[in-house]
Amino acid sequence: MANTKQILAMLKSRAAGDDELFYSIALQVAAAEARQGRRTTAEDIRAAVDEARAASGSGPSVPISIAKPRGDLQGLIELREPKIGLRDVVLEEGTKSRLNDVIRQQTKRDWLREHGKTPSRRLLFVGPPGSGKTMTGEALAHSLRLPLLVVRLETLITRFMGETAAKLRLVFDELNQRRGVYLFDEFDALGGRRDATNDVAEMRRVLNSFLQFMEESNTTDSLVVAATNHPEILDRALLRRFDLILEFDLPTPNQIRDVVKRNIRPLKLNRPGWKSIESAASGLSQSEIARATEDAAKMAILEERNSISTTDLIFNLTNRSKMQKIFSSQIPRH
Ligand SMILES: Nc1ncnc2c1ncn2[C@@H]1O[C@H](COP(=O)(O)OP(=O)(O)OP(=O)(O)O)[C@@H](O)[C@H]1O
Ligand SMILES: [Mg+2]
Repeated sequence: MANTKQILAMLKSRAAGDDELFYSIALQVAAAEARQGRRTTAEDIRAAVDEARAASGSGPSVPISIAKPRGDLQGLIELREPKIGLRDVVLEEGTKSRLNDVIRQQTKRDWLREHGKTPSRRLLFVGPPGSGKTMTGEALAHSLRLPLLVVRLETLITRFMGETAAKLRLVFDELNQRRGVYLFDEFDALGGRRDATNDVAEMRRVLNSFLQFMEESNTTDSLVVAATNHPEILDRALLRRFDLILEFDLPTPNQIRDVVKRNIRPLKLNRPGWKSIESAASGLSQSEIARATEDAAKMAILEERNSISTTDLIFNLTNRSKMQKIFSSQIPRH
């Protein structure tokens, strides 16, 4: 039999008009029935869910409706419609296959739950600026046909000083009610500000709340993706809470080529001198290479050419390198 918690969750999902959550809880009840040996009841529930899904035209393959965050959540969470897929992101093979594994677990989450397992859903992306962390969060949401909800911790902490933990609670309440990919960007803000300001106690409190919220089981299987450039300042206790930690890095020579090829479209690169392109791009992030390629493409378009020369590209890559040097000599990295 369904427990009170499940009945309440079903009622709430009904009131919120979230069909997918409603069915997902019903399937969890079915799984619990099956585990207790009541196969017929489990089958009946599953059949009823299938029938209801078919009748309403919804199903796991249909994107979940995207509604803007309301009320107290305004200003805390930014809703973005994911537009790019995983194939647009240039990633190391190992990283890609681990992401695909997460997608598989999420897609077959009902099946996993029927066997008493929880799908992986708490991910930490670590790597230098411009290496594709935010982009991968978006691609993940796109692959799962889920909305992307971005929580900027830096903003949350500065804007709601003193009530950050309470605001974070609101975000996790939403996460428990609405299935989505929740991207906690600039995650190091949680650990990083502790010594920078005199708000040690406040940051401790926020961090502890976050750890606690991360442990809560949630019926929506929403994903928590945290992204940071500074893993070294994150608490060890925090790192242990993630199901998966993915490392992003500066691009390898092959990845440099891939980033250039992706960003040059719809133009062509004339007789590419890859070796010299790779050496001009060395030390630049994927983001800087993408932008240098776009700069070269814009030059060509303005000059009404339909191709870019290696020299144009190298010129723009070198410009980006110079900018990077000016930037890094002025702003100390922490
Ligand atoms: N791995 C990648 N493959 C293809 N393009 C990339 C990749 N990484 C970055 N880019 C390009 O750079 C842009 C910015 O990347 P993104 O915002 O994902 O970086 P980030 O790692 O989140 O950086 P930050 O740490 O500064 O937030 C992307 O929109 C894309 O155009
Ligand atoms: Mg980012």
